[in-house]
Amino acid sequence: MRIRDPRIVTRLAELDVELLHGAALADLTSLGIGGSTDLLRIKKHESLPDLLNLLQANHVPHKFLGGGSNLLVGDGELPCAVLQLVRPEPDVVLDGNFAHVDAAADLGRMITFCAKNDLGGMEGLIGVPGTVGGALRMNAGAYGMQIGSYVREVKLYRAASRTIEVLRGDQISFEYRHTSFAPDDMMLAVILKLPSKPFKEILQGIRICNEKRRSSQPLGQKSAGCIFKNPPGASAGRMIDELGLKSLSVGDAQISDRHANFFVNAGHATAKDMLMLVADVRERVQKSYGVSLENEVVVWNA
Ligand code: EPU
Repeated sequence: MRIRDPRIVTRLAELDVELLHGAALADLTSLGIGGSTDLLRIKKHESLPDLLNLLQANHVPHKFLGGGSNLLVGDGELPCAVLQLVRPEPDVVLDGNFAHVDAAADLGRMITFCAKNDLGGMEGLIGVPGTVGGALRMNAGAYGMQIGSYVREVKLYRAASRTIEVLRGDQISFEYRHTSFAPDDMMLAVILKLPSKPFKEILQGIRICNEKRRSSQPLGQKSAGCIFKNPPGASAGRMIDELGLKSLSVGDAQISDRHANFFVNAGHATAKDMLMLVADVRERVQKSYGVSLENEVVVWNA
């Protein structure tokens, strides 16, 4: 989708929104898959209500992009523009046990920064790629912890009311890879309350989690993390592995030989390849285990 109307282009500049024509989503996602579209980079949270009103009034469909690390985007030209927050400097400010974090902050860097200031709790999430906003929306979790446990307050743009709102942690439900945010809510900032812990101790936890991750996940390859959610009481990765499907491929879309719930782009995979592989595996698991696997990865326009 291309925005050419000079009135819109002028207004975007007034709102301090940078317009990048024909951005390649393959370059903005960890899977390295996806077509192109116009990218709107938002420098000020406060411009969001006016920006969204502008897009709505001019019938410009849009989607919000975080760090692109849990996302499979369709091939070809996208039928919508993509909105992304520009990371401010600094993106984390500490106040005692509270971390005030911008949604565009990198999750791993935020955890490390807090650790260096003797604030822990999130060691398990250290190797999870993506932004804090993305982790929040999905309630990212690993090694027995989830980000939702530490949330005190979230600032978000609510598409339904077209306003910026602040929610207390107890007004949000955080479940396994699911939250009560609406699909078109945009995370803007969060206040986390983190337990005090000496840096050395946090570092030890981080090292253990890093080691576990390195030994079981294909970290050097292009992936979106786990492709399916784990069904209650079971492991999607173990089921796919038990069916002997590691290394199965469609084009360059391939099931990792290290962890069967990671589907990697081994070269120039298309969204079509990846989705065929996903559908094939879902069908096989359904047949053998009677379980319908649900996507963990978010799919756009495919
Ligand atoms: N297993 C196999 N073969 C495989 C993969 C796993 O037999 O190919 C077995 C393991 O040996 C283990 C069990 O399955 O006994 C569970 O595996 P693992 O510990 O790797 O955890 P997982 O359930 O596959 C979940 C999350 C990961 C997270 C890890 C660590 C989901 C869908 N996945 O994986 O999160 O990093 O636990 O806590 O919840 C993600 O969300 O994208 C993600 C990668």
